[in-house]
Amino acid sequence: MTTEKLLSPINHFLKCPSPQSWIDEAIKPANLSVILLDHLICELKAAQSAMFLIRRYAVDKESSQALLQWLKPYEDFTYRMQGDWRLLAKHNKLSKSMMPAQNSVYGQDLIDKMVMLIKEELHHFYQVLEMMEYYQVPYENISSSRYAKGMLRHVKTHEPDALIDKLICGAFIEARSCERFAKLAPHVDTKLGDFYMSLLRSEARHFEDYLVLAESIAGNDISARVAVFADVEADLIHSSDSGEFRFHSGAPGSLILPKTRLTNTTAA
Ligand SMILES: [Fe+2]
Ligand SMILES: [Fe+2]
Repeated sequence: MTTEKLLSPINHFLKCPSPQSWIDEAIKPANLSVILLDHLICELKAAQSAMFLIRRYAVDKESSQALLQWLKPYEDFTYRMQGDWRLLAKHNKLSKSMMPAQNSVYGQDLIDKMVMLIKEELHHFYQVLEMMEYYQVPYENISSSRYAKGMLRHVKTHEPDALIDKLICGAFIEARSCERFAKLAPHVDTKLGDFYMSLLRSEARHFEDYLVLAESIAGNDISARVAVFADVEADLIHSSDSGEFRFHSGAPGSLILPKTRLTNTTAA
């Protein structure tokens, strides 16, 4: 499939493109490490949120334990800096098949889609580590941007609406990542550009997976909630972001100081 065809539904789903100021900042060689590091953590978070959804809503106790064990070496590496990252490639399988919880109203479809998604995200996590080794970016744990939290703040507190909202947020995060991979690819070297395009191909249907699940759980049209999150997401992407620069940052915050401070700075 051509890049244009892959991107068309993504760009249609998102309410706004990434601001040029974010792209300009992201392609600066000095920001390569922060982009790779934040991207790495985003891949793990994508796996973790899919795992959270099926542990919370769909699988039985033993399956839940197997999921925790699956992700543990990745989390140990990321949060506790334990283990050799090269060995993570061996932890790419679940130790047992997933069984739905007896009282779960969400069936095998949610489980299968999410397990597949976790597997892909963990593979991407490993691939980002390979890129980091190639570009000699040492691993360090960095803070996250306001982006995901800014959306999750609007998730309803009662079920099943909370689950539906979380799935919609997942769809936006996935779609935005794809849009940004495509925006960055032409401006970075061929190795990294090819990697971003391969991720785009692998991730392009993730946002739709989330939407299909959200709709099937809602049992009715979810476009009103999608529209709410489209506005929230577009605002987080377009408005000035005073946080540190990250993969999902908004427009890089301007460093314009108030007039009095400017005078002081000049005087100093
Ligand atoms: Fe991914
Ligand atoms: Fe994804």
